[in-house]
Amino acid sequence: MTSSLVSPRQAHRARGISIIGAGHVGLVTAACFAELGHRVTCMDIDANRINDLRHGVMPFHEPGLPELVERHAPERLTFTTEYEEAVRGADFVFLAVATPTTAFGTPDLQYVRAAARDVARAVNGKRPFLVSKSTAPVGITDTLESVLTSEANGHGPLQVVANPEFLREGTAVRDFLKPDRVVIGSPHAEASEAVGELYEPLGAPIIYTDIKTAEMVKYASNAFLATKISFINEIAEICERVGADVRDVARGMSLDKRIGKHFLNAGIGFGGSCLPKDVKALSHLAAVYGSHPQLLNAVLEINLEQRRRLIARLRDMLGSLRQAKIGLFGLAFKPETDDVRDAPALDLIRMLEYEEATIRACDPAAADAARIVFPTLHVEADPYEAAQDADAIIIATEWQQFKDIDLARLRQVMRTPIIADGRNVINGDEARRLGFVYFGIGLPDETTVRNARRVVA
Ligand code: NAD
Ligand code: UGA
Repeated sequence: MTSSLVSPRQAHRARGISIIGAGHVGLVTAACFAELGHRVTCMDIDANRINDLRHGVMPFHEPGLPELVERHAPERLTFTTEYEEAVRGADFVFLAVATPTTAFGTPDLQYVRAAARDVARAVNGKRPFLVSKSTAPVGITDTLESVLTSEANGHGPLQVVANPEFLREGTAVRDFLKPDRVVIGSPHAEASEAVGELYEPLGAPIIYTDIKTAEMVKYASNAFLATKISFINEIAEICERVGADVRDVARGMSLDKRIGKHFLNAGIGFGGSCLPKDVKALSHLAAVYGSHPQLLNAVLEINLEQRRRLIARLRDMLGSLRQAKIGLFGLAFKPETDDVRDAPALDLIRMLEYEEATIRACDPAAADAARIVFPTLHVEADPYEAAQDADAIIIATEWQQFKDIDLARLRQVMRTPIIADGRNVINGDEARRLGFVYFGIGLPDETTVRNARRVVA
């Protein structure tokens, strides 16, 4: 459980903290600050979510979070839908509302602006520091200060701090309590120092900057992670053509300390609520300022191409995908989450539906979330059911359940034994021994296509 994951020292001074937004960042931040000994109120406009949280029901799957919430609610951690209640007596108000992508690729800032406005209106008496954790284009946190000033309800302006969040879904509690670094950007020394004090017990380096630099650190970090993934995916394609193994290439590269081992897993590319959104937002921001962000655009293009290439290989093998039965293993954008926002699997579903394939999906956590996007999607709880009579299975998310799949049993239930391993988690040699046609991403398989034609004929 959480306490064995981390052992941060408790804060020496309990402060009043209000968190606006009970989502992946807000709820984790709230529970973790409570763990550090502070009095936390978590506020959301979604009344159902707040009602559920008051009854201990989590709005999403995040390991370690239910235990933390249970440990601290309601003594140190309370939930509300009211701004006044959230902000009353708070020393800090953290904004952790969503900044989703618009159809145009720019971040939708309506939630951040509305939250800042409503905080300003609700403050009465004591003036808290306003700390933004939402990822928003460089310059936005500055503009919040003017929103806060113009909407001030008889009180003076609130001091604003940008404090980007770097947690990952699936390991969010650990990432928050054991961060690699904390970034705090503000022109107000008093506000910066006060926010810094909150994080001191975590023992991580704290970088103090101006607001724009802090915002840029966040975008640049996510863009760099996305770039590493698209880089290794481009290398993977070259590996396939020349007959090299991208897994060993990545291992060989990673022993160079300057390169490192993380984010070099080739596959069907990155998804989730942040990497795609933030690379698009940074690219747009660059263009608005007159820059030509060629690398960022290539990162996005390569990422989408990973999905297209997997579908194209399957189509080549089966002749056509029309009426092909496809077992789709994985819907979440990564394991240990039920989040399907921008999940690669959703792109695969769109492409397969376009080609009139029949899909049976399976995911241990994300079935309900996927059905919100595709109400008629056929989802099985059991992967062998999803693979029944299938012409191929695609591995889109590397859940442990799929890594541990019984290949012999899988072989028995499938009509055509093809495995398209979008995450390189299946033992290809064993699969081939059992009669499968197997392909991964960036793996040497000169005979795959030829063999597949034989199997399918
Ligand atoms: P989310 O969608 O999970 O949660 C956002 C919450 O804010 C929702 O519960 C929503 O009801 C609530 N909300 C919206 N408008 C509100 C308002 N005016 N007042 C109060 N509540 C309101 O979003 P998230 O994934 O937690 O992301 C929040 C921000 O943090 C985004 O900018 C994101 O880019 C950034 N971020 C996310 C992650 C992540 O792993 N998800 C990591 C780092 C940074
Ligand atoms: C990412 C960043 O890692 C966090 O630091 C950041 O705070 C967060 O975005 C955010 O700003 O919201 P997250 O989206 O939770 O976190 O997930 P990641 O672990 O980064 O994975 C993102 C995607 O990249 C997943 O689809 C994953 O499958 C894919 N990925 C990751 C690869 O394809 N290859 C890899 O080597 C690593």
